[in-house]
Amino acid sequence: PVGQRYEAETAPAVCQGTIDSNHTGFTGSGFCNGNNASGAYAQFTVSASAAGSRTLGVRFANGTTAARAANLIVNGSTVGTVSFEGTGAWTTWVTKNLSVSLNAGSNTVRLSPTSATGLPNVDHLTV
Ligand code: GCU
Repeated sequence: PVGQRYEAETAPAVCQGTIDSNHTGFTGSGFCNGNNASGAYAQFTVSASAAGSRTLGVRFANGTTAARAANLIVNGSTVGTVSFEGTGAWTTWVTKNLSVSLNAGSNTVRLSPTSATGLPNVDHLTV
């Protein structure tokens, strides 16, 4: 079960781009439309009651036909690369599950695109 949802548009989340609401189907009040630039990130601050492995769910939309790749950076360390496939439309949101190790307390989870096409639109993160 999902314990907590963190919206990309809600501080302390950081969106290097704009918070948009023009593509329906998002939760909360909008989504992060990251700048189409390598390294322009969406970052979440998530809390864990104890250290250990967690499944993160990233809800995103990619209305193009080309996958967009991003580094997954947890507490400043790159722990993997994620490929965000085309979802068919900017209004079609899907959740991709990622397994990460978190510290007890506060953690930063950053998605940082590896190419100038940037991130998909990012709606929220669940832990
Ligand atoms: C379109 C779309 C945006 C999206 C962008 C992109 O402009 O409307 O929501 O972020 O493409 O390619 O990243």
